[in-house]
Amino acid sequence: MKNVLVLNGPNLGRLGSREPDVYGNQDLPALRVLLEAEAPEGTTIDLRQTDDEGTLIGWLHEAVDTATPVILNPAAFTHYSYGLRDAAALVTKAGIPLVEVHISNPHAREEFRHTSVISGIATGVIAGFGFDSYLLALVAVGRIKS
Ligand code: DQA
Repeated sequence: MKNVLVLNGPNLGRLGSREPDVYGNQDLPALRVLLEAEAPEGTTIDLRQTDDEGTLIGWLHEAVDTATPVILNPAAFTHYSYGLRDAAALVTKAGIPLVEVHISNPHAREEFRHTSVISGIATGVIAGFGFDSYLLALVAVGRIKS
């Protein structure tokens, strides 16, 4: 049984009502249903969300300790959290895949969103496809030999 951690940062608990013109109308429980429906046989989806940087860092440490692949939407932490970057680097330096995802395309938005401090240590980045960004990341994680 393979587990995949799907970690979501600040304000993503508000999906469904948060800026639907940017993020759509669906919420995180709907994302969980979508990923569970598409996950390959024998893969479990552990989807979590927090507004707290320390909690997110702790979950990345857990990924290292359990050798669990990560799909990470760091949300606003993407743009400035070196603490999160360092924790994400522990994951990829341990040889565990970590795919950075975004629902929107940050590069087509405000200038401050054009910088990601996470991308440089991520295994790969998928952005701009709505919830399909997570689905594409799940496919990518499944194709990486571990
Ligand atoms: C986001 C993009 C970020 O710039 C923003 O702060 C978010 C969501 C996305 O999924 O498109 O909270 O990560």
